[in-house]
Amino acid sequence: MPSKNRRTARISAVGSYLPEKILTNADLEQMMETSDEWIRSRTGIIERHIVAEGETSSDMATRAAQQIMANRDLDPDEIDCIIVATVTPDMLFPATACLVQRNLGAGRAWGFDLMAACSGFLYALDIGARMVESGRYKYILIIGVDAMSTIMDYEDRTTSILFGDGAGAVLLEPCEDGSEGIIDSVMRSDGSGGQYLYMKAGGSLHPASAETVANREHFLRQDGRVVYKQAIKWMADVSSEVAKRNGLSGQDIKLFIPHQANKRIVDACAKRMGLTEEQVLVNIDRYGNTTAATIPLGMADAVRDGRLAQGDKVIIAAFGAGFTWGAMYIKWSQVH
Ligand code: UT7
Repeated sequence: MPSKNRRTARISAVGSYLPEKILTNADLEQMMETSDEWIRSRTGIIERHIVAEGETSSDMATRAAQQIMANRDLDPDEIDCIIVATVTPDMLFPATACLVQRNLGAGRAWGFDLMAACSGFLYALDIGARMVESGRYKYILIIGVDAMSTIMDYEDRTTSILFGDGAGAVLLEPCEDGSEGIIDSVMRSDGSGGQYLYMKAGGSLHPASAETVANREHFLRQDGRVVYKQAIKWMADVSSEVAKRNGLSGQDIKLFIPHQANKRIVDACAKRMGLTEEQVLVNIDRYGNTTAATIPLGMADAVRDGRLAQGDKVIIAAFGAGFTWGAMYIKWSQVH
């Protein structure tokens, strides 16, 4: 728990971008042995956006960041640092953050990518918050972006129906009296879960070769049932932990913005936390699981729909490959 009256980092602007192209459940019915009914009832997903050929993670991240610059009326040279959470960088290196820095013309900014899969944005937000709290940095862009369609095996019906593409971004800046912003967080990881959600080839263990391509090893694989069970338990555990140690009961929370992996996972977590439907942000029906982008896309939707006002108490939570997971308590600010 943080001490009182110290500088915090507050979210002062949000931005988002979704590719134009939409892949519906009906489209998927044409591509594989599945049904709209199965996908809706098992996952809550109706459609997802996917990148056009040649459209990249850095393109999407740049669009979300440009929206922030416009909303906040900020000059690119004022940005101190850019952190991009993604598992689908344009290339393994250079970092996508550097490509975004170039695209924005953010001449003073340094930046780096952070890979924590579906928890990536949450991890990046926590790091960015500490950087602002230190007093050394003023404006930090945190971007969650993934082009999941580029690592989907559309011959694997159990996984490919789940994911979509998109980008969400927030701007962090200091709140000198610590009255709002990022108040507290609980971050976890457990590497023994690595075998249940991964992309096998393309790294130093299995460098790309004709064989890895032939074996379809450059696609995401998961054991859905194991991930499902762990996600519910651990996401609900950390959300309850961060709420409890900040003295928050279910009624105090204005909005719970969880990672969107499966509507059933979201519902189970919300139930364990004693939340009503109005207190939970759900947009998986329109976007699917966009990995690092789900939470900032949720924030952008909540702001657009007028669901959040200054002073509202918000919990965000994520669970993903690694395993990685965590939850954060945010006292909402005036957001552009
Ligand atoms: O962001 C973090 C990463 N991912 C997750 O959090 C995902 C976590 N897991 C899940 O969301 C769920 O486990 C899935 C949505 C992936 C699967 O749902 P499920 O209720 O666990 O289904 P299941 O894997 O137990 O499969 C049930 C049946 C199987 O048929 P049989 O063996 O019962 O005859 C599957 O073959 O559904 C079948 N099935 C499908 N049927 C139609 C699997 N995928 C499909 C499909 N369309 N797309």
